[in-house]
Amino acid sequence: MAEVFTLLERFPLTLLDVSTILVFVATFVLAVRFLKVERPGNLAPLVPGGWPLLNHMPTFLTTDHRLLFCKWAKEHGDVYHVKIKSGEICVVSGYTALKEMMEKDVFSTRHDGPVMVATGGDQDILMAPYGEVFKKRRRFVASVFRGLGVKMGRGSIQDQIQEEARFICIKISSFSGRPFSVSTDLATAAGNIICALVFGKRFDYGDTRFQHLQMTMAKLGAEMVKWPLPFVHYIPKVQDPAAGVRLHSKKLQQFIREEIERHRLNLDPEDPRDFIDYCLLQLNQKDGGGTWLNEESVVYILQDLFIAGTDTTAATLTWAILYMILYPDVQQKVRENQ
Ligand code: HEM
Repeated sequence: MAEVFTLLERFPLTLLDVSTILVFVATFVLAVRFLKVERPGNLAPLVPGGWPLLNHMPTFLTTDHRLLFCKWAKEHGDVYHVKIKSGEICVVSGYTALKEMMEKDVFSTRHDGPVMVATGGDQDILMAPYGEVFKKRRRFVASVFRGLGVKMGRGSIQDQIQEEARFICIKISSFSGRPFSVSTDLATAAGNIICALVFGKRFDYGDTRFQHLQMTMAKLGAEMVKWPLPFVHYIPKVQDPAAGVRLHSKKLQQFIREEIERHRLNLDPEDPRDFIDYCLLQLNQKDGGGTWLNEESVVYILQDLFIAGTDTTAATLTWAILYMILYPDVQQKVRENQ
């Protein structure tokens, strides 16, 4: 309080200043109160309360949102709305409501957001609207991946994964018992296995192109999880919250395009080596990929594989390692399974 008085002494407010501030506050409160759009009556209930502009976001920052969702489900039913950012999200809880929702095709298309920006529309799998094109692309990727060894048993890529694991072990032992974070190395390893599948080669960790790819992936991931606040568009310099996503996804796409060009130069139709080769062969067929695959979509699908496959695998392995540290008996069983 003393600081406030000191500040007022140094910068005395005139009557004009005070009335300007009061007019601003009154206008703001009235705008928030009266500019509210009426919700149609047939919508699920909206959780009341929340702050002007920020809506329920401050509540999420102070309380575990999972507990909040359970509490609100008890108060408002299995389907209700919450206001976050500048829009509303619908929260669905409970087996019956979730099953009913998941059985409807209309909910099978992903909500657009940073991934949509990165993938440049619906040319890929992640953001393609649910339907025939999506199913064909997904089926194609799954069958090529199975052929390349993404499966259990004989002919699997187990050896490649174990080779990559050996490099992580070397890295871990280099810390000689000092504390370190393994997540980044796991993301690098996961990314390298995806490289082996799609580009036909793993990269040495010291390879500058690979390091550039890793950095691009890390920056792209960081941009994607940034949560744009509702008024962020009005702040100069951050008016376009998706600019970073676009920038880093362009770099990733550039890397992929270079690899596609390299593959085109020495493609052997009798001996496809990796995912890109299979895509090129598909495009070379009489009807190519029809409406579901073209050169641009190959770039975007490859980008999907990096976006969807790197951090998910790294996070799962990080948790697995944590649990093995906490439960040495399980760790022992894993070792015996080798
Ligand atoms: C432990 C690691 C992984 C986890 C936990 C994981 C989890 C998921 C989940 C939850 C989905 C959404 C499924 C849905 O909406 O129905 C998904 C979709 C997808 N994942 Fe993974 N994933 C992992 C690894 C990978 C890898 C290694 C790749 C590829 C290299 C990959 C590629 C994809 C693709 C392309 C999709 C979109 C396909 C679709 O919507 O059906 N994922 N993943």
